[in-house]
Amino acid sequence: MREMPMCGIVGYIGDRNAVDVILDGLKRLEYRGYDSLGVAAFKDNKGYWWKDPGNFASVEFKIRKKVKKGDRGIGHTRWATHGKPSHQNAHPHFSCCEKFAIVHNGIIENHRDLRRRLSASGHKFRSETDSEVIAHLIEEHYQGSLLEAVRAAVAQLEGSYAIAVCHQDSDGLVAARNMSPLVIGVGENEYLAASDVPAILPYTKRVIYLADGQVAHLRREGIRLYGQTGSDEVSFEISTVEWEQEHAEKAGYPHFMLKEIYEQPEALKNTVESLIEVKSLDVRLPHLEVAEEFFKQLNKVYFVACGTAYHAGIVGRYALATLAPVRVSCDVASEFRYTPPYIDDKTLVVAISQSGETADTLAAVAEAKRRGARVITICNATGSSIVRNTDGVLYTRAGPEIGVASTKAYTTQLAVVVILATHIAQVCGHIDAAKREEILGWLLKIPELAKQTLEDDSVILEVADAFLSTTTFLYIGRRFNYATAFEGALKLKEISYIHAEGYGAGEMKHGPIALVQADYPTVAIATHGLVHEKMVSNIQEIKARGGPVIALTNPQDEETRELVDYVIEVPEVPEMLSPILNVIPLQLLAYHIALKKGLNVDQPRNLAKSVTVE
Ligand code: BG6
Repeated sequence: MREMPMCGIVGYIGDRNAVDVILDGLKRLEYRGYDSLGVAAFKDNKGYWWKDPGNFASVEFKIRKKVKKGDRGIGHTRWATHGKPSHQNAHPHFSCCEKFAIVHNGIIENHRDLRRRLSASGHKFRSETDSEVIAHLIEEHYQGSLLEAVRAAVAQLEGSYAIAVCHQDSDGLVAARNMSPLVIGVGENEYLAASDVPAILPYTKRVIYLADGQVAHLRREGIRLYGQTGSDEVSFEISTVEWEQEHAEKAGYPHFMLKEIYEQPEALKNTVESLIEVKSLDVRLPHLEVAEEFFKQLNKVYFVACGTAYHAGIVGRYALATLAPVRVSCDVASEFRYTPPYIDDKTLVVAISQSGETADTLAAVAEAKRRGARVITICNATGSSIVRNTDGVLYTRAGPEIGVASTKAYTTQLAVVVILATHIAQVCGHIDAAKREEILGWLLKIPELAKQTLEDDSVILEVADAFLSTTTFLYIGRRFNYATAFEGALKLKEISYIHAEGYGAGEMKHGPIALVQADYPTVAIATHGLVHEKMVSNIQEIKARGGPVIALTNPQDEETRELVDYVIEVPEVPEMLSPILNVIPLQLLAYHIALKKGLNVDQPRNLAKSVTVE
């Protein structure tokens, strides 16, 4: 059975009770989604472990009963896709002698070959997972050094892995990664390994982001890092995580998603003020190693991303195309690399990713680089794979985003694509300083306007009640809000499981209008802009066929108000910036409908926060 790698792994060595630290860490990685969990802890050459399908409520007490203490240990939250969650398939997995314990996030592509070979040499497998081969491989190579046995084992693995390994008779813990996220926490005489930073933050803010192919040996005396080949140690850089532990907690909100929706004003403020010189209204791009000369000779710009980030790319395409006569397109990453895209050394690829770990986007980045493009990223995660594999980064400063459905990362991405488009347009001389100052001046007002947009959700609650049992929602928009229509529909699909489609409003009459009927509501993004009148006539076409319409409008838009069934007012801003505010009521609508349906808003079924396999 192949592991869908959104699992969470945690390892610890130090003076605290490893069981407490590991369970606490796994709880902080719950948002990665899971159906089983397990822990193994070691002390004085003894090992204790328990694992089972189920959630914390049902499994934690059993683990605490069976695994009382340890000064080192590993733990895992598993999220299976193929095959059933079971005691055997839960992690940790063990070698035949049961002294080697491993937890794994990723997919071992050659696990069948390895299993066949290991079985032929007498190894007995207990589970159906691909991960278990790692425990047997380490046992196979062990000659007194856990580190060397792990290095020999990972050298034979094909595919993606983040692993943590303990041995009953060896002090220390070994961790390794390849195309799956893994971060090391550097504490006071204690060290952690985890899939993501929230599991480490309660203990330290000092972290090492392992690179692909690296192996870390964590012992009380300290950390040693090794590359893929060769016996020599490699040097490492300790980074300090900027955000606080409470940022990765609910802070009194019932759900991370709601907290993150209400954090958008602060996230937008932190993001725009980190990229705009407030006094001079200049753009500052501290982490971008791309010279202005390169922008001046650009022949093509691609925005590339997945999911919600892809919708930010669509707005980026509109913004750049509006401000500069540059050829620009926006592609979903999983299609981009197989198009194949026309790319040369005058091409810029902008890869957008909240997590920086999405495999499809990373693969598109690799393909773009292989073809000679300059590749930059808009990302929310320092130290992530995409940041380390591109020629520069524009950070969104949204802080940790835990809810699977992206909200604050999206609105900050929207602000950043407009800043980037404005910068490129000005560097290339397509807009003057006055135009730049106008756009950036408005962007600095957006955080306050986002706060206003969040003040009144009364109509949103009414709409949620009115259409709770609806099976289909349509979302329509034009130009910059074409993306808002798609994002609004995606939010509803992600967390309420209601079928929803986003369409360009002008496209409705070429087919989708056939769907219009009395119980299928249409959300029309009808805020002011170049094609507002056309938007109003599209609404009339739907009303004429008996479809209920919920319109997003700006204040004093009586014409639209008289036409529709529900009006959600949003402060008026320049059209290019309107997607930032317009999406907020749509996030809240999806949230309240999902909540009223009693669904798991933060961990919707079948989804994960970042998909680290293609
Ligand atoms: C999906 C998430 O797995 O990946 C979405 O559920 C997200 O919310 C998409 O938009 C892309 O992720 P990222 O991290 O590359 O922006």
